[in-house]
Amino acid sequence: DVERPLAGRTVVVTAGGTREPLDPVRFLGNRSSGKQGIAVAKALSAAGATVRFVAAHMDQPAPEGVELSVAGTAVELRAAVREAVRGADGLVMAAAVADFRPAAYNDSKIKKTGDDGAPTIELVRNPDILAEIVAERRAGAELPEVIVGFAAETGDEAASVEEYGRAKLARKGCDVLVVNEVGEQKGFGRDENAATLLFREDAPGGPRAPEHVAGSKDDVARKVADVMGEAF
Ligand code: C5P
Repeated sequence: DVERPLAGRTVVVTAGGTREPLDPVRFLGNRSSGKQGIAVAKALSAAGATVRFVAAHMDQPAPEGVELSVAGTAVELRAAVREAVRGADGLVMAAAVADFRPAAYNDSKIKKTGDDGAPTIELVRNPDILAEIVAERRAGAELPEVIVGFAAETGDEAASVEEYGRAKLARKGCDVLVVNEVGEQKGFGRDENAATLLFREDAPGGPRAPEHVAGSKDDVARKVADVMGEAF
């Protein structure tokens, strides 16, 4: 089916940003809006896929027609993704997952002290969900055939956005890494996007050259859906 190349396929999409609680009223969060993940879910649905949508915190509603689960923290997102990937053909990790969480959760609101002092917040590492799942697949576990990660990168004097992306692709080991150039005008919360898709050398669908997409998050999403369709 040319119109619906993903008919019969199930794809898990994560979106939004995790929030790591410090106390009942405070958290460490990030500025992910959920827009890119929502766009990916819509593009996959339009291509005929069944979408399992794992939503962290988003500033807009989840798309319609998906199987929805919600996750607040990185640890919750990990559990939700593990559940969702069972029997799925693809995984797209568009969520911004916190790399660190507070080492301790305060059951009551952290209070100011009388002496002008301020607390020190100790952080611990969160699991890298994407890297973990890729490692388990490599070890033989039955996991999605096509795994796509997202990365926001900035270039500098030492290396370009694409070079940093390549290094991350190698580290994470996913099949496709969508590298977003972030800066003043691009990235978080915006509709416009410039992205480069980098492919693992032995990714499903064969080795392929990087692809650049300049345009909206919907354009990037359609490209991701196209690539998925070609991989199967
Ligand atoms: O290392 P970085 O955070 O840039 O990697 C981004 C990619 O890794 C995204 O696909 C994101 O969803 C995923 N990720 C993850 N678990 C983390 C951090 C990032 O799965 N703890």
